Amino acid sequence: MTINFSLNGEPCQEASVAPTKTVLEYLREDHGLTGTKEGCAEGDCGACSVVLVRNGTDQRVAVNSCLLTVGQLDGADLITVEGLSERNGELEAVQQAVVTEDGTQCGFCTPGFVMALHALRHTGETVTEEIIHDALAGNLCRCTGYRSIVDAARSACTEPAENSTPRADRETGEWHEFGDEKFLAPRTLDDLLAARLAHPDAPLLSGGTDLGLSFSKGRKHFPVTIFTQDVSELRRIENTATTLTIGAAATYTEALPFVTAAWPSFATLIRRIGSRQIRNVGTIGGNIGNASPIGDTPPCLIALDAKLHLHGQNGPRDIPLEDYFLDYRKTDLAADEVISAVEIPKLSDGQVFRAYKVSKRYDQDISAVIGAFRLTIKDNIVTDARIAFGGMAATPKRAVKCEAGLIGKAWTEDTARDVGELIAEDFAPIDDHRASAAYRVRVGTNLFVRLFRDLAGQDATDVVTL
Ligand SMILES: Cc1cc2nc3c(=O)[nH]c(=O)nc-3n(C[C@H](O)[C@H](O)[C@H](O)COP(=O)(O)OP(=O)(O)OC[C@H]3O[C@@H](n4cnc5c(N)ncnc54)[C@H](O)[C@@H]3O)c2cc1C
Ligand code: FES
Ligand code: FES
Repeated sequence: MTINFSLNGEPCQEASVAPTKTVLEYLREDHGLTGTKEGCAEGDCGACSVVLVRNGTDQRVAVNSCLLTVGQLDGADLITVEGLSERNGELEAVQQAVVTEDGTQCGFCTPGFVMALHALRHTGETVTEEIIHDALAGNLCRCTGYRSIVDAARSACTEPAENSTPRADRETGEWHEFGDEKFLAPRTLDDLLAARLAHPDAPLLSGGTDLGLSFSKGRKHFPVTIFTQDVSELRRIENTATTLTIGAAATYTEALPFVTAAWPSFATLIRRIGSRQIRNVGTIGGNIGNASPIGDTPPCLIALDAKLHLHGQNGPRDIPLEDYFLDYRKTDLAADEVISAVEIPKLSDGQVFRAYKVSKRYDQDISAVIGAFRLTIKDNIVTDARIAFGGMAATPKRAVKCEAGLIGKAWTEDTARDVGELIAEDFAPIDDHRASAAYRVRVGTNLFVRLFRDLAGQDATDVVTL
């Protein structure tokens, strides 16, 4: 079937392109649209940023075209820097602002910045300084310096532009084939499970911010790829008074408003996952699915006692998330199963939740250590504790000795400090290029003091003792 989308307003029907070709290569090689640049080919630099309007929405979002595949374009509108100029040769507002504010020198990064800011201008959010920096965190510039780019953002984006009028849904295909490559895009959970049964070795592709590296850097082509973001059951978010259930194929950006309302600290951590370009397509389902020991959401979800909904040929199965991770990159997922959703209980009376990500940079960095804490404190006594860490073992894991050490104790800074020392009994982390084992243990211990001071509303900046 053809892949049906629009490119800079012109209809495109592709039947003769490999569905896992990256959109970056497709634009440059098949259309000669070389305004979209390749810097890193792994989602880090933003030079390849384009704007996408997914089927069924009218929201323009910035994405990294180096990690996006052509198959993922089915039904969407794609806008590149070449598509921005308005009529009569006039520059679009962001482009004009970059010129006026001297926001470019060599120009290599400039199309990517322009596309990130074009998306920001159309989000409809009140654009504050914090939001400008958040919108630009996925774009690197080597020579201009950021001040003039931020000035351009201030002048062009603080008056948000209206999104274009909502568009009609475009017809899309449930499979695409090119050469010896198949790209299956089922619409229902039943069809997804049938595809999984028929092709147990085929990778599941959700946002592709992890798997997309196999296509871009790895230059791999799988005989069959199964795309999950058209499966309606996986795209649901269900918010009740007591739980939030996030479908495995809902993006971080879609889930964020609900997470912010229930656990602001978890939302702060999610806003540090990659960049907007990553969060606009990346999913919590993919973060759990890749089973990385340094994935950001699993420690938080384990501390919050989240349940994983799995579906396979024998029907649905729910398991506590902490039981899902068996060993390094080994999970309890059977060959015929998929993750359909993660269900997170909301906090009850007396419960508090905090999560801390420790990495070398604030934005766009993988964690060295993550600590997530859900404590129940009544009359200043800790009556329950669920604490999980990432980066401390082969899987995200609970700190059971620390938890036991806290229960029944008065919640004081001394308790936090003493119990934090038990981290060395809970974990034996490894040295790697992100952090040494000794650093990880020290950070883990110190996070308990940070937690105490944070909950007490105190400044935690002098905690680190080396
Ligand atoms: C530049 C950059 C920065 C990043 N920064 C961070 C970061 O700060 N923190 C962090 O934790 N991660 C980070 N990541 C990793 C990645 O973005 C996240 O893990 C993301 O959540 C993956 O989601 P996705 O939908 O893109 O997954 P995909 O790439 O589509 O899939 C990832 C894995 O999950 C499996 N999978 C997907 N859906 C399902 C399902 N329904 N059932 C079973 N398995 C499934 C896939 O088969 C694959 O193995 C970063 C990646 C990049 C490129
Ligand atoms: S080329 Fe660097 S993010 Fe895509
Ligand atoms: S203008 Fe040269 S890299 Fe940004």
